[in-house]
Amino acid sequence: MTTMTATTIEDKSNQKISNHTQNSEKSLAIEVEALSKNYGQILAVQNISFQVPRGQLVGFLGPNGAGKSTTMRILTTYQAASSGIARVCGLDVMTQSMEVRQKIGYLPESMPIYPEMRVREYLNYRAKLKRLSRIGRQATIDRCLEVCRIAQVQRRLIGSLSKGYRQRVGLADAILANPEVLILDEPTSGLDPIQIRETLNTIKSLAGDHTVLLSTHILSEVESICDRVIIIDRGKICWNGMLSHLAEQEPILNLGVRGPVEAIQSCLKQQEGVKGVKLLQSNGDAHSFQLDITANLANREKIAQQIVNNSWGLFQIDLRQQKLDDLYTSVVLRRD
Ligand SMILES: Nc1ncnc2c1ncn2[C@@H]1O[C@H](COP(=O)(O)OP(=O)(O)OP(=O)(O)O)[C@@H](O)[C@H]1O
Ligand SMILES: [Mg+2]
Repeated sequence: MTTMTATTIEDKSNQKISNHTQNSEKSLAIEVEALSKNYGQILAVQNISFQVPRGQLVGFLGPNGAGKSTTMRILTTYQAASSGIARVCGLDVMTQSMEVRQKIGYLPESMPIYPEMRVREYLNYRAKLKRLSRIGRQATIDRCLEVCRIAQVQRRLIGSLSKGYRQRVGLADAILANPEVLILDEPTSGLDPIQIRETLNTIKSLAGDHTVLLSTHILSEVESICDRVIIIDRGKICWNGMLSHLAEQEPILNLGVRGPVEAIQSCLKQQEGVKGVKLLQSNGDAHSFQLDITANLANREKIAQQIVNNSWGLFQIDLRQQKLDDLYTSVVLRRD
């Protein structure tokens, strides 16, 4: 792990790779610098920069159309960037694309379907394409069938498999050549809850030896297995940091107050230590607010006192640490 990622709560997305020492570059599995991709007028990815140290399991989050798949397609050399640099294991995706392909395993958003092939036959075909040595090839396929729990369907036609099983065949394909970096675009999409848990366990077991960048819309999946989170929205990175550092973020105070909404809101905004006030919902004159506050007990007491002094009803006061969904909501909803 690089020193920078260990010490920064929120890595700035515009950090320059050139600032890094030779040593830290060697420890980086993915380096993206000022990367952009336009589809005509659509700015799918806009000047993004991020780095992933080797061995990390990274959750790549963002709403529909944010640019996740586009970034992944560029990293896997399946699409060219409009500008910027991307490297995988130090190799440039534009100029060293064949070498990059040997370093990565890719599960695309929509897995290419070969309905007329049987599962084992398909993996054999893919293993040959990936130039796996004939000696040991069958044992490797057996291992991948086992890891992805599809040994029992190895003789079935891919076209006859359910979506979840096809997804697992895609994962088996991605890990066939034991790649250093796995790029998994929504690997749990379409799976049932038990399959999701098993697939996440599989992915977690692959991390460490491999670097994994996985996209998903399920925040709890990221919370359960990832080391790092990168959030992208409208083509721009809006958060990049270690999940373990979330606990160090300022807490959230949920308040339920009965009274005139505008007066309450303006009063809360003026209180010491309050950095933001969001009205969550109103039911008649009962309102729920979410406050970003500094972790200071005295400030909290003053806020409660102020509400009571105004003769408003305080029916809820609840302090908690930020969770990933709080962070996600706040950065994705934040207007720039
Ligand atoms: N081949 C393409 N041609 C034109 N526009 C495209 C193409 N692929 C993606 N886009 C556009 O680029 C933007 C980013 O799309 P992308 O597929 O990367 O988003 P995403 O974050 O993967 O979304 P989702 O969560 O829905 O999979 C979107 O506005 C999308 O419509
Ligand atoms: Mg996508």
